[in-house]
Amino acid sequence: MSSIINSDYLVIGSGIAGLSFALKVADHGSVNIISKRVAGEANTSYAQGGIASVTTDTDSIQKHIDDTLIAGAGLCHHDAVESALSNAPERIRDLVEWGVNFTRTDNGSFDLAREGGHSEYRVLHAADMTGAEIERALLEKARQHRNINIYENHLAIDIITEHQVLGNLQSAFNICFGAYVLSEKDNVVVPFQASYTVIATGGASRVFLHSTNPEIATGDGVAMAYRAGVRIANMEFVQFHPTSLYNPGKRSFLISEALRGFGGLLINGDHERFMPKYDARAELAPRDIVARGIDAEMKKRREDCVFLDMRHLDSAEVTSRFPNIYQHCKDALQIDISKDLIPVVPAAHYFCGGIMTSLNGQTSMQNLYALGEAAHTGLHGANRLASNSLMEGLAFSHNAAMKVINKRPRNFGSVIIPDWDESGIVDEKEWVLTRHNLKEIQNIMWGYVGIVRSKKQLNRAKRRVHVIYQEIEDYYKKSKISGDLVELRNLAAIAFLIITSALRRNESRGLHHMTDYPDKSDKYLKDTII
Ligand code: FAD
Ligand code: SIN
Repeated sequence: MSSIINSDYLVIGSGIAGLSFALKVADHGSVNIISKRVAGEANTSYAQGGIASVTTDTDSIQKHIDDTLIAGAGLCHHDAVESALSNAPERIRDLVEWGVNFTRTDNGSFDLAREGGHSEYRVLHAADMTGAEIERALLEKARQHRNINIYENHLAIDIITEHQVLGNLQSAFNICFGAYVLSEKDNVVVPFQASYTVIATGGASRVFLHSTNPEIATGDGVAMAYRAGVRIANMEFVQFHPTSLYNPGKRSFLISEALRGFGGLLINGDHERFMPKYDARAELAPRDIVARGIDAEMKKRREDCVFLDMRHLDSAEVTSRFPNIYQHCKDALQIDISKDLIPVVPAAHYFCGGIMTSLNGQTSMQNLYALGEAAHTGLHGANRLASNSLMEGLAFSHNAAMKVINKRPRNFGSVIIPDWDESGIVDEKEWVLTRHNLKEIQNIMWGYVGIVRSKKQLNRAKRRVHVIYQEIEDYYKKSKISGDLVELRNLAAIAFLIITSALRRNESRGLHHMTDYPDKSDKYLKDTII
């Protein structure tokens, strides 16, 4: 029997979204942050390019808004774009106050980079390790705050709703009371109860065979919310980053878009520059266009990768601007990025869809909020503009915090949260077989639900994922809970959500490209909601 752990706020996830929310509410109540690995293991820590915000007089909020809307291909929510980007300069001030050290020029102003789809230099960065610097500063602040407790190696399994809760509740309510959490060290499931629960669990790109994301990106929050009947939107819009390092069999590594912003050119195996053929903006076109250009070039020429060429740029400047990428390429492939060609391929990178929220992070369930990459706020539409994701995490966490600190949670009377049913067996042999499903899901998603899709391929993926989904559910029902099993089950749910959403959109828009429906259609000028 495990005792319940209570707090005013339960934050699931310790990336930029969860930590910045926690820091904003901590003076107003107790905060429990749970994180399924060590706290710093989050997509946030791997962000390279930077965070977009207007910080100069030569730029304007309107230009940032326009660039975001163009990339979003008609599906951005204008109110979300306005809200996030007009307050972005203030959110940058928050980061600086929390101790984030951005790279600055000799005169002390921010050193600004440019990335695909941006009409101006407006990306603040900390060399090529922006996310690691943000995560460092926010975690340090959170660890110092007396109202914040961080539970590492604690994995949320499911949110607690009235379906599990006993007591004097009417069943018609749609309320979140917290989450069941697996303490991986003790191997026990503990109910965490809170007035407000915040899902900030990040993305789900590990559902694809090739991904820029670390292993934590298994879509747990979206899958939990989906199982609880919370509204999910636009899961078909998966962003493939054009340039991850081509290094088969090794852990994937991002080659930041900032290298193209710095002047890097994409060339094929014959050393011909090809992007101008696909778009007038060439290497700095929005990401969906560059990823499709590379995909088309590789398929046409039957080549395994293309190359990023930095050789025409000042070698000392390249190495000092991108020290992390320089070192990684040297260690992994013995190449010098300022002198050698960098082999690159597209890889799954980011989820534009997720748990539907209001501008305040409120989901369709009472007392449940969703923030960061796990959320669908409407900021990105059908394609995210580079470096708008870290800002999304910050901007809507601020809005959510302002809402909840000024709002008393509704009192639903006394509730009794039952213990997790710990019964179940561990069948090692069957687990080995069930675990094979992970590679199968990743292969199916990469092969049939990737950068270019068709109805036939999606239907094929649907049939196969359906069988796998059932197998995993059957195994889950009779087995003792484990972290690997929870993540596998969640990835199967994510695959199902992506395929179902993709099959509903008979057009090509932004990141969703169908060979049988190559054009946009006004009929689909709306979100796909599950
Ligand atoms: P994350 O930072 O991923 O944090 C999620 C947290 O939730 C983690 O702590 C994780 O362990 C925890 N978690 C997940 N599931 C559970 C569970 N079941 N129980 C408990 N804890 C759980 N964006 C930009 O704007 N600019 C960039 O330059 C940029 N570069 C990128 C480079 C790379 C290589 C990658 C992978 C992404 C990049 N992005 C960039 C995207 C951006 O980093 C992410 O979208 C953003 O950091 C997401 O923040 P988050 O707080 O929502 O989630
Ligand atoms: C990059 O550095 O290319 C990633 C930027 C982003 O994902 O926004």
